Formats: sequence, C-alpha cells, structure tokens
Amino acid sequence: MGISRFITSFMLLLFLILSSNVFKCSVPVDATTAAKFTFKGFKGSQTAIQAEGASTIQHDNGLLRLTDRNHNATGTAFYREPIRLRDYTNSTNFKVCSFSSSFVFVIIPSSPGNGGFGFTFTLSPTPNRPGAESAQYLGLLNRYNNGNKSNHVFALEFDTVQGFKDGADRRGNHIGLNFNNLSSEVQEPLIYYETADRKEDFQLDSGEPIRVHVDYDGSSEILNVTIYPTRLESKPEKPLISRRVSELTGIVEEEMYVGFTAATGKDQSSAHYVMGWSFASCGENPKADWLHLEQLPDPPPPKTSLRDKKGYTSQVVALIVALSIVTVVLLVLLFVFVMYKRQIQEDEILEDWEIDYPHRFKYRDLYLATKRFKESEIIGTGGFGIVYRGNLSSSGPIAVKKITSNSLQGVREFVAEIESLGRLGHKNLVNLQGWCKHKNDLLLVYDYIPNGSLDSLLYRTPRRNGVVLPWDVRFDIIKGIASGLLYLHEEWEQIVIHRDVKASNVLIDEDMNAKLGDFGLARLYERGTLSQTTKVVGTLGYMAPELTRNGKGSTASDVFAFGVLLLEIVCGNRPTNSSGDFFLADWVMEFHANGGILSAVDQKLGSSFNGIEAKLALAVGLLCCHQKPKSRPSMRMVLRYLNGEEDVPRIDENWGFSDSSRDDLGINVVGYVSSDKASTSNTFSSCSEVSSSSYR
Ligand SMILES: *[C@@H]1O[C@H](CO)[C@@H](O)[C@H](O)[C@H]1NC(C)=O
Ligand SMILES: *[C@@H]1O[C@H](CO)[C@@H](O)[C@H](O)[C@H]1NC(C)=O
Ligand SMILES: *[C@@H]1O[C@H](CO)[C@@H](O)[C@H](O)[C@H]1NC(C)=O
Ligand SMILES: *[C@@H]1O[C@H](CO)[C@@H](O)[C@H](O)[C@H]1NC(C)=O
Ligand SMILES: *[C@@H]1O[C@H](CO)[C@@H](O)[C@H](O)[C@H]1NC(C)=O
Repeated sequence: MGISRFITSFMLLLFLILSSNVFKCSVPVDATTAAKFTFKGFKGSQTAIQAEGASTIQHDNGLLRLTDRNHNATGTAFYREPIRLRDYTNSTNFKVCSFSSSFVFVIIPSSPGNGGFGFTFTLSPTPNRPGAESAQYLGLLNRYNNGNKSNHVFALEFDTVQGFKDGADRRGNHIGLNFNNLSSEVQEPLIYYETADRKEDFQLDSGEPIRVHVDYDGSSEILNVTIYPTRLESKPEKPLISRRVSELTGIVEEEMYVGFTAATGKDQSSAHYVMGWSFASCGENPKADWLHLEQLPDPPPPKTSLRDKKGYTSQVVALIVALSIVTVVLLVLLFVFVMYKRQIQEDEILEDWEIDYPHRFKYRDLYLATKRFKESEIIGTGGFGIVYRGNLSSSGPIAVKKITSNSLQGVREFVAEIESLGRLGHKNLVNLQGWCKHKNDLLLVYDYIPNGSLDSLLYRTPRRNGVVLPWDVRFDIIKGIASGLLYLHEEWEQIVIHRDVKASNVLIDEDMNAKLGDFGLARLYERGTLSQTTKVVGTLGYMAPELTRNGKGSTASDVFAFGVLLLEIVCGNRPTNSSGDFFLADWVMEFHANGGILSAVDQKLGSSFNGIEAKLALAVGLLCCHQKPKSRPSMRMVLRYLNGEEDVPRIDENWGFSDSSRDDLGINVVGYVSSDKASTSNTFSSCSEVSSSSYR
C-alpha cells in the first residue's frame, strides 16, 4: 500500500514536471524573463563577466578595465548570460521590452588631449565581437561589416575622438547612438543639464568618474541617456538624449548580450575603466540599482596614470634621445665626409693651383666687390666676357672680367699661365691681380685703369679740356704697347700671343701710360675652353691676312695688328670703314707713294707733332702691315726702330700690301669697321663667320 502511494505521488510529481516543461516550451509568449544584476565593482565576478582582448578585471582593485593605454587595442566585456529583450505578451509582433542600466566609468588618456578612441555600451547577439577593429570601430565592428543590418548591434558610444565622420567634428568628446553602424545616428556633444535650460559641458577623458543612466521604455520606445560627473549630488532632471528608437525592434534578437566594447587608436590611446554596473530589464518598470559611489572601488588612482605616463614619457624621451644621438652622429659623419671630400678637392687644387699660384680670389669677395655683379657696375663687354668695376676692401678698385662658358676645361693650365704672367708683370700690361673659378665662370681680377681705353681717347670727345691726345703722348703709347707685346712675345718664359691687339684693348692710366689688356685670353679659345672647336680670334681690320686662311695666330699676326694700331694712333683713323673699301695701311701707303706721308698724320694735331717721329712711326706701321708674315719685323726690331737704335728699311712701292697682292690672297679688303663703342670689341670667333658676314 505504502508502495502504491509512493508510486502515485511519484507519477504525480513526474506529471507536474513534464506538464510544466510542455507548458514552457509550447508557450514562448510568456517566456519574457526579467533580468537584473548589479556589480559594485567586479571583484570576484570573473565568471559573470566575459572579458576578451585588452579587457580584464583587475584583481587588486576590482575595476573592469576595458583597455589599457596600449595603442591599436580592442577589448570587450559582456555579461555572460544572454538577456531576453523581446516581449511577446500582446501579439506575435514582439516589442523590445523596457530596460534600464547604469554605470560609472573613468577614462584616463595617455597624455592630456591625446586620448582615444572610446568605448560603447552595447547590445550584441554575441558575448564578444570577433573581427572587430580598433580606433573608430571601437572594438565593435570592422570596416567590412560596419552598417550591415545583419550585425544586430545597438551601441551607445562614448567617443573621445571624432574618428568616424572624418573631418566632420574633430573635437570628439561626444556620445552617440549607433544602430549597426558606427556612423552615429544621433550624436550629442557632452553636456549635462544643470537646469532644464542651463547646460554644462565636461570632458569624457578628464580622469574623473562619470555616471551614466540608460533608460528605455518599451511601450513608448523612448530611450533616455543621462550622463554627468559623479561629483554632482543628484541626477540631472533632463536627459542628454531622449529619443524614440524604433530601430531597436529590428536589432534585438531572441537573445542578446549586454556589455561594453572599447578601442584605442594608432596615435591616440586611453585606458577605459568601468567602476560599477547595474542592469534591469523587462517586467514592470525595470529599474537598475543606483550605484553608490562609496560602495564602488576607488577610481584608478592618478598615481597609476602618472607612473604610466611617466613610463610612457620616459620611453618617448629615450626614443628622442636615441634619435638625437643618431642624428648628431649622422650629421657629424656627413660633415666629416664633406670636409674630407672638400679636402680631397682642395688637395687636387693645391697641387697646381694653390701652392704655386697664390693669386686666387674668393668668389664671395668678388661677388660683394662688384655689388653682386650688378649691371650698373659694368664698364665694358669684350669678346671674352663682361668687365665689372669693383672695390675690394683689401686692394682698392679693381676690374673683374667675367668669362662664362659651358665648360672650363683647360682653364687650369690657362690659370697657371695667367698666374705666371701676373707674378712677373710688366708696366705695359694691365696688372692681373688674380683669378677665381666659380662654377662655369672664370673671373679675372685686374687693376682698375682709370682713363679707360685708348679707343675712347682717340675717338671720343676730346678729354682734358678739349685737347686732343698730343703727339708725344701718342708716341709714348705706341712705344708702350710695343714694349708690352715684346714682353709677351719674347721676354717671358713662354711665347704668349695676344691675338686681339686693338685700340679698345689698350688702357691708359693716370700718367697716360699704355697698358695692354686681355693678353693671353686667346689661349682659352685655343684650348677649346670657350668653344668646342678651334676658332679664329681677332677683330676685323686688325687681322692679318693669313689668319683668315689658316686661323693660326702667331707673333707675326700680333705684329700685323700692332702695325694697324700704330697707324691708327698716328692718323686718328679707324683701320677700316663700314663700306669696306677703306684700309688704313693702303691709305697711308698711298701718301707714302706720293712722297707726302706726313699728310696721313691726324688732322686734329695740326702741326703740333714731331715730323721725324711721325715719319718713323708711319714707316714702322707700314712695315708691320706686310702681307707676308715673314716680312714683318719682330717686336724687338719694332722697338729698336722706334727708339732710333736701328734704321728703318726703305719701303718701296712694291711693298707687299698693294690691292693686287691682296686680291691674290682672295681678300678684297678687310672690310669691316668694328661697330664697337669704346670697350666693345667685335671678336669673331670663327673663320666661316668672318667670310660669311663680311666678304659678301
Ligand atoms: C592593429 O592591430 C591589428 C591586429 O590586432 C593589426 O592587424 C593592424 O595592422 C594593427 N594596426 C596598426 C596600425 O598597427
Ligand atoms: C496589450 O494590448 C492591449 C491592446 O492592444 C493594451 O490595452 C494592453 O495594455 C497591452 N498590454 C501590455 C502589457 O502592454
Ligand atoms: C552608416 O551610416 C552613415 C550615416 O548615417 C551612412 O552614410 C552610411 O551609408 C551607413 N553605412 C551603411 C553601410 O549603411
Ligand atoms: C552583410 O553581412 C552578411 C553576413 O555576413 C553578408 O552576407 C552580406 O553580404 C553583408 N551585406 C553587405 C551589404 O555587406
Ligand atoms: C525620459 O525622459 C523624459 C523627459 O525627461 C521623461 O518624461 C520620461 O519619463 C523618461 N523615460 C524614461 C524611460 O526614463
């Protein structure tokens, strides 16, 4: 009997258990279950909270740390149990039931103003967020699923960096409502309402604890978010966000997980902490427990932040120091390298240039002396370059000839020569003080000769109170030029051919001494420094006939040019005229043939000249202008003639430069009056140029 009673009661119990199960499974409408939990700190809650990534519950103080200050970190912390938020009580079309949550958090930036990125309070279908990215994805979503309706996530974001809408609002420090999409649907800068119409703003990442209330009313679908610093005594009446969020219906699934996600950025980072958290859902007017601050763990101590910050700072300092050292070392190496290279270069120069030839100028000095090669300082433009006036503090007025060329090869030998010339010097040569090579410029520094060129003295308005150049000065000038040329041809260790003897290349100093300029520069042409091919150098009217044929300058061709210049000085006449039918030597020869050679003397002199000297000079001039180079006297002989140490040979009418003999050479006349003004010379640098421009 006892057994049957036992069996009956057992069966009854079984039935009750079974029937209750059937009831449960077949009527899901009634399955809404109120949920409620409260964490006053998280100590011992490891099993209740599923923390992943950078998130962890700190053993010592019980704080839930969502991320630390490492860069590019993500972390999630969800309540481990799923929450049912669908309310089926009234129909098959469910509602999202009411819920309420409250938490206190602290954000400590890695350095003030450089915090990032933020965290979210999230409803998620999973208790973690696999594949979520850092920075603006806040550990919640990633670039591929952001905005996808299949995410089924709702997030209230606490963002300290305006990371998502790029450039829209870089200030950050806002909260936002996100529905499957981290581009917030609703966004509010961080304030609390002190009264209904008085706002106070505050910072998310100030390091002070901040309290949040999230309240959702299922029937009205209104979500209220209130956020304020815990230092306020009571909750502000007016929520920061109060909005109908019908989107939740599309998001909330049968089971949802509630929790937090957080992320730091590549450059910005913060440590995100939750001090306490309460939650309640469904049922009658669910209300999350109030979190009493004194029951929560202490906020993360500022000491920690300082220490961490200090560690961080010292790392940065170490990095900066290391980089500085590396930089300094590199700079020193570079400097040494440059100096070494320069030393090498200098050594190269020193061999030939510096030791033997101390007349090198510093470019900077010349640059400043000529007022940066200012145009107003130009005193002449010759065939070889532009001449500038300058003033050196060390040596007074100078003339700087600037020779520009694409290539200055061979210039070294040239300078070597110039150096020697400058060292030896001659009173009838313009003193070459030195030189300077700068990039493609060769700069030659000469004494500044105040009276300008002979050319200008002969043809310009008479200087010195309207008095023309008197005879004895002319004769001295002629002898001076001869003396200078002799020096170049015979008295110096090497034969230097001037190649461009002409009035404009003779400068006259204060004491009316002639000084020959531009000597030796033709070498630059010969060496191919100034041009690629060998070219004929000279000025029409002064060019010996053989020059136009073979282009080879010789002492004899210099003598020819000297002869022309001599006649020019005596007669006060240009060597040729513009129509090309006048040649000074022929003209003088005619007077000679007629026995009245003195009629050739410059009319401006009147009778104030020494007839014997004039006759002598004209005869020497004619001698020098002989067609055949071999028949011309040397400069030494010329000087002896002029000094009366040797008798001048007789010149008969068959002397070699009649028109016919010139025709034989295929040259009608050297028919070109240089259009040069004073110091401008027409230096033709190619034979073909001469023939095409002046013989047709
Ligand atoms: C951030 O971390 C993820 C993996 O954790 C990595 O794939 C990504 O390259 C990192 N980004 C940066 C900028 O370091
Ligand atoms: C259910 O719906 C009816 C009418 O549709 C409404 O009167 C009632 O308040 C609802 N009940 C709840 C619990 O929402
Ligand atoms: C996310 O939201 C933003 C702003 O509302 C919108 O422009 C964007 O298209 C959304 N993304 C997706 C994938 O729907
Ligand atoms: C949204 O996600 C689902 C599931 O991952 C995927 O099949 C779908 O292609 C995604 N839609 C878009 C627009 O990316
Ligand atoms: C939301 O805020 C409004 C206005 O402040 C208030 O009337 C309403 O009761 C609040 N709702 C909830 C669910 O707290």
